Amino acid sequence: MIDHSYPTWLEVNLSAIEQNSRNVVQRTGVPLMAVVKANAYGHGSVEVSKAALAGGATWLGVARFGEARVLRQAGITAPILVLGMITPPEVDEAIAANVSVTLHSREVADMLSQRGKAVGKPVLAHLKIDTGIGRLGVQPGEVLELARYALSQGNIQIEGLFSHFAMADVEDHPLTAVQVSRFKGAVEALEQAGLLPRWVHLSNTAGTLVHPEARFTMVRAGSAVVGIWPFDHTPYPEYLRPALSWKARLASCKILPKGWGVGYGQEYILQQDEIIGVVPVGYGDGFRRQPGNEVLIDGRCVPVVGRVCMDQSMIRLPKAYPMGTEIVLLGKQGDAEISLDDLGKRWKTATVDVTAIINFRVPRIYVRD
Ligand SMILES: Cc1ncc(COP(=O)(O)O)c(C=O)c1O
Repeated sequence: MIDHSYPTWLEVNLSAIEQNSRNVVQRTGVPLMAVVKANAYGHGSVEVSKAALAGGATWLGVARFGEARVLRQAGITAPILVLGMITPPEVDEAIAANVSVTLHSREVADMLSQRGKAVGKPVLAHLKIDTGIGRLGVQPGEVLELARYALSQGNIQIEGLFSHFAMADVEDHPLTAVQVSRFKGAVEALEQAGLLPRWVHLSNTAGTLVHPEARFTMVRAGSAVVGIWPFDHTPYPEYLRPALSWKARLASCKILPKGWGVGYGQEYILQQDEIIGVVPVGYGDGFRRQPGNEVLIDGRCVPVVGRVCMDQSMIRLPKAYPMGTEIVLLGKQGDAEISLDDLGKRWKTATVDVTAIINFRVPRIYVRD
């Protein structure tokens, strides 16, 4: 249902999210951690989490504890892993909220153990190893020592082991096989010591979908859940469906005379009388301040002219339209479409970067098929 209440809004299709999650679980045959950090890549973390869980995901992954707090406050009881940094006061909250944290160094082990003692309860943790991305994590050869050290504290429960791919979205990149092999080495070392935890996970979306050898006992996917295919050069598979459309309503439409300038910097000076529309969306919403922008109106593509402002953008129209006419910035209108890939290419960035930074002030409207 189209909502007429807002100048601009996102439509998020929860049926697509549920179905994408179900398809990932069916295709991989292993439990799915739905990664819903950064507000589920801009789609809305609570609603996406609920849809992903309804589609068969069993874990949720977030980057910060604050994101886990939002999910718990919304009544979501599924296991959650904080994939990134956690501060001492957040550990106290994580313990109380039954949220698992990432253990990536001895320093973190000391901190978790201290907080666990202060709270009087064990801390749930997943060991993190760096197999080649150069972020959080000990070297694969150090994981056994870290596991022993953490366990010797007496109040850290190691329930998982994980790492993260750097190049899995680049087909046949040699680093992926190297990372898998380093990860397997760490798995074997823990296994031989009888310390291998239940949840062993390496794959992001790209790894999950095209590297069956890297599925272990769980996969972590964010892009796939919201229907984003991470490969540039291969077409979308039929089992993933984008969930997001970005729409707006025409704020104004008027004829401006030849010689009139449009926008800050007056970069667009009319060579003739033209019909100029105003779209109530700008870079303050996440619509990038770059040349080459286009939107859909009346089922056709029209150019953004002049600089994108913080809250508004101007478009050149072939004819006059009434205020309130629907504009599509991302998604389909009639036979025309502006896809996430189009926006990523236009803005020279990753598709997840397009969705993740769409500002909170753009309301998310949840729809189903
Ligand atoms: C640690 C970790 N795991 C999993 C993911 C999910 O990645 P993707 O969106 O490719 O599924 C991310 C996202 O960047 C991440 O940082």
